[in-house]
Amino acid sequence: MLETSLADEVLARCDELATFSEEAGRITRTFLCEPMRRLHARLGGWMEAAGLRVRIDAAANLIGLYEGSRDGARVLAIGSHLDTVPDAGKYDGVLGVLLGVAAVQALVRDGRRLPFAIEVIGFSEEEGIRFRAPYLGSRAVAGRLDAALMQRADADGITMADAFRAFGRDPARIDEAAYPAGRLLGYLEVHIEQGPVLEAQGAAVGVVESIAGQSRLWVEFRGQAGHAGTLPMEARHDALAAAAEFVLEVERRARAGAGLRATVGTLTVAPGAVNVVPGVARLSLDVRHARDAVRDAAVADLLTQARAIAARRGVAFAIDQQEHHPAVPADRHLADLLATSIAAAGHDPIRLVSGAGHDAAVMADVAPMAMLFLRSPGGVSHHPDERVLPGDVQAALEVIVGFLHRLAMAVHDFDLAGDA
Ligand code: GLV
Ligand code: MN
Ligand code: MN
Repeated sequence: MLETSLADEVLARCDELATFSEEAGRITRTFLCEPMRRLHARLGGWMEAAGLRVRIDAAANLIGLYEGSRDGARVLAIGSHLDTVPDAGKYDGVLGVLLGVAAVQALVRDGRRLPFAIEVIGFSEEEGIRFRAPYLGSRAVAGRLDAALMQRADADGITMADAFRAFGRDPARIDEAAYPAGRLLGYLEVHIEQGPVLEAQGAAVGVVESIAGQSRLWVEFRGQAGHAGTLPMEARHDALAAAAEFVLEVERRARAGAGLRATVGTLTVAPGAVNVVPGVARLSLDVRHARDAVRDAAVADLLTQARAIAARRGVAFAIDQQEHHPAVPADRHLADLLATSIAAAGHDPIRLVSGAGHDAAVMADVAPMAMLFLRSPGGVSHHPDERVLPGDVQAALEVIVGFLHRLAMAVHDFDLAGDA
């Protein structure tokens, strides 16, 4: 039984890292922002004190290496992200990174080296807020970052390339963040569930079976601006009224499909004045489902609906940007090893689907991937009231350490078999 002090320290560190924010009184930490640089210094210091060799890679990911028992050993990456949504909670992303550091602290305390190295990765970007593209840190590590994204600008007109330069990273060297083929033994991500499943089952932790696919679109209704007092109602081409009709259609369609989630999370109106009929309405659409065919069909239906609403109201409809990420299964062997470790720690090894997206979905492209979830009280996340229970953090740490020992035995046996 691990003592509680490591888990307590993880929670205290979550509290402290919550103070690294772009906004006073709220936790907001987007890609390549100044508070992230200060966070790297603080977290990097904790990593070094834990016995990790720290570097910041070409994509501004913070990485700490704990060497294996022999040179050239492959790497188990344990990671999650350090960026946040606007007005975030304290645990989404950060908790998984800090639990990775704590697991290494436990190994160091026990004087253990494993037949593989561990790299604890704090990914620079996962949420997709600043540049409307998610998973940037893990995409770079996986060698999947499209160079064209460098020219994309944020809301202030700063390109991603310039943001990298301002952060002290050369955008031309982004390829150097990619891990060499074959170096990764696996990828483990620990994260709060962000949903109600584990709490409903009275479970502290659970094993992710798969990560739901997601589509993100940015669309625009373009009508005609006009005078609010003089333009007759029947002569209007109100872009916001069209968007409003669409938003309700999105909700209706998602409610009609089991397991479907669809959200309009942003809406901006131009010119945006009390006495002007809206000429342009831009909005985001986020659609998720565990089965790609269901998500694809929902997106297609919603776009058909959007075009029909636009045609009826005499406004134009266009897709500005879109990204589609398929559902991703966890590696069966690593997931089983996690389940065994959960059972060995005295818990029921519940399996569940992740409705949220995670860096693990990208890392699964280049390494066997597993995810451990911690119960989210009230299912609350992407909200400042997000919480975890201290006992669950301790349980997760025990499971991670047990998982590392089991993986070490499996790798050791495999190597012996290979030598025979
Ligand atoms: C990330 O948190 C996402 O699922 O949007
Ligand atoms: Mn998130
Ligand atoms: Mn997250």
